[in-house]
Amino acid sequence: MKAYLNGQFLPREKACISIDDRGLLFGDGIYEVIRVIEGRPFRLDAHLERMDRGMRALELHLPVEERDAIPDIMHRLLDANDLKSGEATIYLQITRGLSCPRTHAYSPGKNIPSVIITVSPFQPDYELQKKGAYVITGTDIRWSRCDLKTVNLLPNVMGASQVRNNDAFGILMVRDGFVTEGFNNNVFAVINGRLFTYPDSPYILSGITREVVFEIAREAGIPLALTPVSEEDIMNADEVFLTGTTTDIQPVIKIDEKIIAEGQPGPVTRLVQREFCKQLQ
Ligand code: PDD
Repeated sequence: MKAYLNGQFLPREKACISIDDRGLLFGDGIYEVIRVIEGRPFRLDAHLERMDRGMRALELHLPVEERDAIPDIMHRLLDANDLKSGEATIYLQITRGLSCPRTHAYSPGKNIPSVIITVSPFQPDYELQKKGAYVITGTDIRWSRCDLKTVNLLPNVMGASQVRNNDAFGILMVRDGFVTEGFNNNVFAVINGRLFTYPDSPYILSGITREVVFEIAREAGIPLALTPVSEEDIMNADEVFLTGTTTDIQPVIKIDEKIIAEGQPGPVTRLVQREFCKQLQ
């Protein structure tokens, strides 16, 4: 496999960054994961806009030519790795580059960022998307800038490990009694015909897939409520599903000990799945 690192296309195993990179030392960087169908990156502009927002918030500056070259680099990488057909993901990471000597503070505009782009074959679990998944609940132990897609992912990694230990698919993270999101996806609940999800705020990542679900709901006339759902209410929801780049639309049929939607993906979830699938094509 070929990877892109700071202006070069290299064999993946040869693409190495410095031990002084701030991404490694401080988790000082942002990333994006983009779904690719038949060589077409899905909603690439939205991902790059979110990346730009993240870079502005972190005062990370990438030279304009390098920023503008990103879509072309992605296409060249897909080509070089034979991923112009079938399904894949693109991983993009931009860190603040070197810190020598190691100091927490940085001077805005002084660092040369490290840019990493990789591609991998990827398919979500389509069988599970038909059947529905079991998820657990857990405490949301993250900071209050979850709206930034930073590479500081230790709480998400710990959540994922809880998920694995419970043989579950995902986790509904709970902050102050309300479900925020999963460790790598957003959470929706259908309650009395309305579609609920946590509002845009510092406590969730505003997912690109979540945005697509908003469009589908508007188109289908499903009322949308950007209102937090409590842990108690989600247990009694008519339907629950998760959304994300590597999740698609994943129905939830069991949360902890509680069966949801009589153990079957419900009608609103299936409608959203169908419409999302059309968009991916
Ligand atoms: N994660 N919430 C969190 C915490 C996420 O990490 C992600 C995506 C999402 C969904 O966002 P989107 O629809 O834009 O993918 C929500 C990626 C896939 C990851 O970390 O691998």
